[in-house]
Amino acid sequence: MSAGAAEVASSGTGLSTVDELAVVVLAGGLDLEREVSLRSGRRVTDALREVGVHARLSDADSGLLTALAAERPDAIFIALHGQAGEDGSLRTVLDLVGAAYVGSTAAACRVAWDKANAKAAVRAAGLRTPDWVALPHPTFRELGAAAVLDRIVARFGVPLMVKPVQGGSALGAQQVREAEELPAAMVSCFSYGDAVLIEPYVSGVEIAVSVIDLGDGPQALPAVEIVPSSGVFDYASRYTAGTTTYHTPARLPAEAAARVSDVAVRAHTVLGLRDLSRTDAIVTADGSVEFLEVNVSPGMTETSLLPMAVEAAGLELGEVCGRLLRRAAARG
Ligand SMILES: Nc1ncnc2c1ncn2[C@@H]1O[C@H](COP(=O)(O)OP(=O)(O)OP(=O)(O)O)[C@@H](O)[C@H]1O
Ligand SMILES: [Mg+2]
Repeated sequence: MSAGAAEVASSGTGLSTVDELAVVVLAGGLDLEREVSLRSGRRVTDALREVGVHARLSDADSGLLTALAAERPDAIFIALHGQAGEDGSLRTVLDLVGAAYVGSTAAACRVAWDKANAKAAVRAAGLRTPDWVALPHPTFRELGAAAVLDRIVARFGVPLMVKPVQGGSALGAQQVREAEELPAAMVSCFSYGDAVLIEPYVSGVEIAVSVIDLGDGPQALPAVEIVPSSGVFDYASRYTAGTTTYHTPARLPAEAAARVSDVAVRAHTVLGLRDLSRTDAIVTADGSVEFLEVNVSPGMTETSLLPMAVEAAGLELGEVCGRLLRRAAARG
């Protein structure tokens, strides 16, 4: 695992000797987001090969550690989504075996992956995020679901957003327009995770801001504005081509555009993230930016937001991933 270090130092931001880099792209896993991850992994692998990087796509299964020990890649690109890829556990194991990887540390992921923890951290740093409560299933069982839900509605009103505290791809996320819909939304949300986050539904322009750090500190890429034709950016709107219109850069006044970039970079920094992240937020009618969540392993599929932002910035996905991999290899 040594090829990257000297070359990063000598080649600056270029990719002149990148073909010497041998990398493994991890995708698949057993999470609900397995299919999305495989699409991300294939896209990253193809993009890397296009710029001459020797990339092999690998599942994160029981053969992984043996394969890594035999192969000793210079660095790993984690294209796993959901728990294994984002909660820090896989990264803990990669640290254990001394494998270099692109992205945030296990400790940072543990905080960022949990939406309630991430919201608390960014709020403490002065960013705006909708008020929330995050509760595990037993609390509702023990105190009586109806009594707890009544208090939540009394505090926040409607409409509400209900989503798993930990999860992704909008799985289990639901808008609740009337209080009567809340119990059913909770039941369905608990099928995706054992803790639920409830917060006021925020109207406005949905945006996603990717942040990458190619060596000069975290930089925001152009914000992507998301306009799903169904009105809801759910799983189908995300991964079915043609169901959502994306505007990159987002059609925001210059001041709001600067603010969303700043929010994404600050969220990345406050949470101690590394290399890349994507912050999801809503810009309200008065121009304020409400942080929703941050992704430590952003989607990389054909319809994903980070690759769109990379393209809008005039960069090439393979080149960006290659540079991040070289930095990871240099870290060792
Ligand atoms: N408070 C809110 N107000 C309005 N819409 C919201 C709110 N929270 C979430 N949403 C909507 O639900 C979607 C999913 O929520 P969020 O991005 O927080 O979770 P996720 O499932 O982890 O998504 P991802 O795949 O981006 O990781 C958002 O893209 C947005 O459309
Ligand atoms: Mg999101």
